[in-house]
Amino acid sequence: MSSIKHLFEPRSIAVVGASKDPKKIGYKVVSNLLASGYQGTVYPINPSGGDVLGLKAYASIEDINDAIDVVCTTIPAKFVFDSVKACADRGVKYNLIITSGFSEVGNTEEEQRIADYGLSHGMRIVGPNIFGVYSAESAMDATFGPGGILPGSVAIVTQSGALGLAMIGKTKVENIGLSTIVSVGNKCDVDEADLLGYLTSQKRTKVILMYIEGIKNGPRFIEAVKQATRKKPVVVIKSGRSERGAVAAASHTGSLAGSDEIVDAILKQCGVLRAESIQDAFNWAKYLANSPPPTSDQAVIITNGGGIGVMATDACEQYQIDLYDDGKVLKKLFEPVTPSFGSTKNPIDITGGAAGAEYDAALSVSLSHKAIGASIALYCETATFLAADLERVLENTYRNYMEKGKPILFATVGGEDIENAIVKLNRKNVPVFGDVYEAVSCLGKLYWYHRYLKYHDEKYEETKIDIKPITAICEGAIAQDRYFLLANEAQQVMACAGIPVPQSAVAHNIPEAVDRADTIGYPVVMKVVSKDIIHKSDAGGVALNLENKEEVIDAYQAIMQNCKAYNPEATIEGVEIAEMLKRDVETIIGARRDATFGPIIMFGLGGIYVEVMKDVAFRALPLSRREIMSMIKQTRSYPLLLGVRGEEQKDMESVISCIIKLGSLLQRCPLISDIEINPLMVYEQGLGAKAVDVRILLSKDERRSS
Ligand code: ACO
Repeated sequence: MSSIKHLFEPRSIAVVGASKDPKKIGYKVVSNLLASGYQGTVYPINPSGGDVLGLKAYASIEDINDAIDVVCTTIPAKFVFDSVKACADRGVKYNLIITSGFSEVGNTEEEQRIADYGLSHGMRIVGPNIFGVYSAESAMDATFGPGGILPGSVAIVTQSGALGLAMIGKTKVENIGLSTIVSVGNKCDVDEADLLGYLTSQKRTKVILMYIEGIKNGPRFIEAVKQATRKKPVVVIKSGRSERGAVAAASHTGSLAGSDEIVDAILKQCGVLRAESIQDAFNWAKYLANSPPPTSDQAVIITNGGGIGVMATDACEQYQIDLYDDGKVLKKLFEPVTPSFGSTKNPIDITGGAAGAEYDAALSVSLSHKAIGASIALYCETATFLAADLERVLENTYRNYMEKGKPILFATVGGEDIENAIVKLNRKNVPVFGDVYEAVSCLGKLYWYHRYLKYHDEKYEETKIDIKPITAICEGAIAQDRYFLLANEAQQVMACAGIPVPQSAVAHNIPEAVDRADTIGYPVVMKVVSKDIIHKSDAGGVALNLENKEEVIDAYQAIMQNCKAYNPEATIEGVEIAEMLKRDVETIIGARRDATFGPIIMFGLGGIYVEVMKDVAFRALPLSRREIMSMIKQTRSYPLLLGVRGEEQKDMESVISCIIKLGSLLQRCPLISDIEINPLMVYEQGLGAKAVDVRILLSKDERRSS
């Protein structure tokens, strides 16, 4: 297959459907290619020949006596396959199919036919249903967009064509230079993962911004995006809540995993900055493309107004920016540049009388102090500081900060003069915002990304599990056409995986029940074992806290009677006798194969309120120890594991170990599709954790390979 470099740096481009008619897309693409200054050769193709925009038009691709790297297809859908065939046979490397009318309107077979032909003949396809590709590397605007794209360092990859075209316009307004913009459309072949590969290593691109509606191959996407975020920030706008996650609602892990929650968790896990709005995405991309990393973990706010300072403090908390708070140092540093009626506590209030010189002095102090990693400068319009001075001071300050490699940004609030100053400064790429939260969010994302780079860990935790006996248990169930394991089978699987379970045994009559209970030790619990009775409590098939032999005998008889009355057809395999566990913190751990992302794991607050509390966190496997801890800490009930009201801390190591073992079990045993432990009872430190109830679902044939 051809290197993806040929797509972005082609030596020649042919436009199939190039037209003389300025209203047609085939005209616009040729005209953009010429206007953008593309240095390679452009070959218009049109059955009528002649010329298009001064270039000789060829009747077909076969007539061109040159190697063609890229073809841009702009002819109606019904002609596309024949054209694709001719291009692939002619050795074209990439075909950008702009044409609509394929899988997006249900014409999936034709799209597949095109993809198959291209792939089997070494031609990659971008699209169909796209607006094209722009690449600053080769000054190539092979789109039918508005033209005049500013070259720069932000790469945009978009699934939506219309939104992508709109973004081109917006980048010009916001003065954002692009290294590339690619529309991936229906993604019949080239997808985000392919493009990330190129953009990650391309020097020109400093930030990658993606608009994604659906992800086709989750594990490939995860790998590509992880590689990318190690090198540069990736901002993603992910829209469209798919229904797929909800389909597999056979377990809590399935039903609690609203697909968007999984997407969100996995994007964070991969170091992606997820934006809810285009404005945020643009702000972050532009700021991160131009800003050096913070020089320490803490920032300062410098303001001329108390109110706006408080707002910025709130915003810093929201966007996880630590504010430098050593009062003594702040006083020493800022007292000389702050009026006596101001404040040297962070936010530093240089008061309403502050003009250019005062801002300059205060911001120079924070620039030169090592412990301050970044500055946020706020300005509320006053009569003492003229807008013209403001522009000069902000621009100079910004340049000073950039020279010394420390991040800064500004938020200014005021009337028309201030608004105009913001526009002018933005044109010079000085990061000034008319809204405090917008400004602070940019710095928050810069901090978040650099924390990710510093702390993310790719030492994945796995444990060896002998899957032979586990496979035998699963195959035994499948041989009976049963795609779930019985409780005792699930307990055996847990034991094989090294996950502690309560002592238990199955009894088939009263003497056996008494004998098992004596061996385990009182108190015990008893539960019916029957594949026909799923909800054991509803059937009266559970008895708790049995203290002696007599109670075991009574319970055995009662369970049998109740279950026969509940479902006379049920086959009862026996009664499980298990140790009665002490209660402590009830957690839940789930592991399942997500239709999009592959193996994922869930941790949260367990017990009967799981569905109500929905206090769970998700991650994609494999996981580092740091990620496991971050998943546990993300839950609201994490303090329960730390111990509340004088309780001892709980056995966190056992929880981590169970998560690692469950993850390894899912990854190693393709016959298992879902595993859920609820509750995993977690005891005090040193006393471990026990998997009280375990549900295991098996894969149907077609899903086993996933
Ligand atoms: N080889 C070369 N040229 C051909 C061929 C061929 N096999 N067949 C036809 N042509 C020529 C035509 O003669 C015509 O040239 P002319 O103007 O000299 O006569 C030219 O190709 C275009 O063909 P038309 O039939 O005029 O088609 P038209 O330009 O109206 O539409 C298009 C083609 C634009 C591809 C249309 O089918 C389409 O899909 N439009 C939607 C595109 C789109 O929106 N894509 C998604 C973008 S993202 C977003 O949503 C904004």
